[in-house]
Amino acid sequence: MFLENYWYCAALPHEVDARPQRRVICNEPVVFYRDTKGKLVALEDRCSHRQAPLSIGEIRGDNIQCNYHGFVFDRDGACVHIPHQDTIPSRAHIRAYPVTEKWGFIWIWRGEAAKADAAKIPHLPWTNDAGRSPVYVYFYVKANHQLIADNLLDISHADYLHSDTLGSKSGIMGGPQPDKVEFRTWQEGDEVHSFRKLTNVEVASYPKKWGNFTRNVNRTNIQMWEAPNTVHVHLEFENDENKILINHDHIMTPETDTTTHYFMDFTRNFGLDGNQYPTDDDIYDEQHSVISGDDLPMVEAQQENINLCRGVVDVPVKADKLISAVHRHLADMYLVQDIPVPSYVLVQR
Ligand code: FES
Ligand SMILES: [Fe+2]
Repeated sequence: MFLENYWYCAALPHEVDARPQRRVICNEPVVFYRDTKGKLVALEDRCSHRQAPLSIGEIRGDNIQCNYHGFVFDRDGACVHIPHQDTIPSRAHIRAYPVTEKWGFIWIWRGEAAKADAAKIPHLPWTNDAGRSPVYVYFYVKANHQLIADNLLDISHADYLHSDTLGSKSGIMGGPQPDKVEFRTWQEGDEVHSFRKLTNVEVASYPKKWGNFTRNVNRTNIQMWEAPNTVHVHLEFENDENKILINHDHIMTPETDTTTHYFMDFTRNFGLDGNQYPTDDDIYDEQHSVISGDDLPMVEAQQENINLCRGVVDVPVKADKLISAVHRHLADMYLVQDIPVPSYVLVQR
């Protein structure tokens, strides 16, 4: 069971064209396509006649035809043609989802259609900023969506898991320590925020190259989590040589309870001329290699252990303050929607 009345990120715009494309979102099969005007359509991917997936059917103008016995559905899910008969039972209609494109992502609304309001889509204005360049990445992950969010909410892992690429060596026992570590979390309505700053810390290879840093930096992470499961990260690396800014937004959409569609934009204010390092392709390759190489194998391995070792509980530490705050808030949100709190939302009150 997943939170309702939210926009869930469903695809990157280039993934959906005039051909039907199936994607399971929150345990529901959905077929996406673009109509003759290029407008997005999202329907239940299940023909009402005998449950065949419509995604293996054909697009007919703005409609979609099932490939089994030929029922046709329009973009609102109404069944508009049944071969060899004139009457169409209303039970033959299928569900249509509100769907829209914003900030370089395609979003689908799960819940009451009348409440779908584009203003409720997570706010990512930096992706449109003339002085920035966004790079978009999609990952398919064999792990629960909250494990991926928890990985991002606990940014201290960067100093250990990514000590050679993104973080510093300060997570390693005996490694060089920053002069100061500040970390605080707070809540604003349904958003959970955190601020973490490491002063005078070693800089790992990627940010070193991005900012041409030769000396230690101050590294600031300002994060915000919002429902159903988006983690916004504003990251700054700064010393007297340079200051660089990155917004990276991580949007986790459950496919099932143990698999996730993970979308990300990485929006930077450096390397924008398109010719010199880092180009968009460099950033794409680096992010792909760090996330696919470090984070995803870790969360998938956690998921395997969780599947085997039912009932185990985590041991939270100081660095987990943001995870705990988000889990507490999520537990309340599930209760408000009358959904049993899932076991992966561990609540430490
Ligand atoms: S299952 Fe689709 S028309 Fe029969
Ligand atoms: Fe990571």
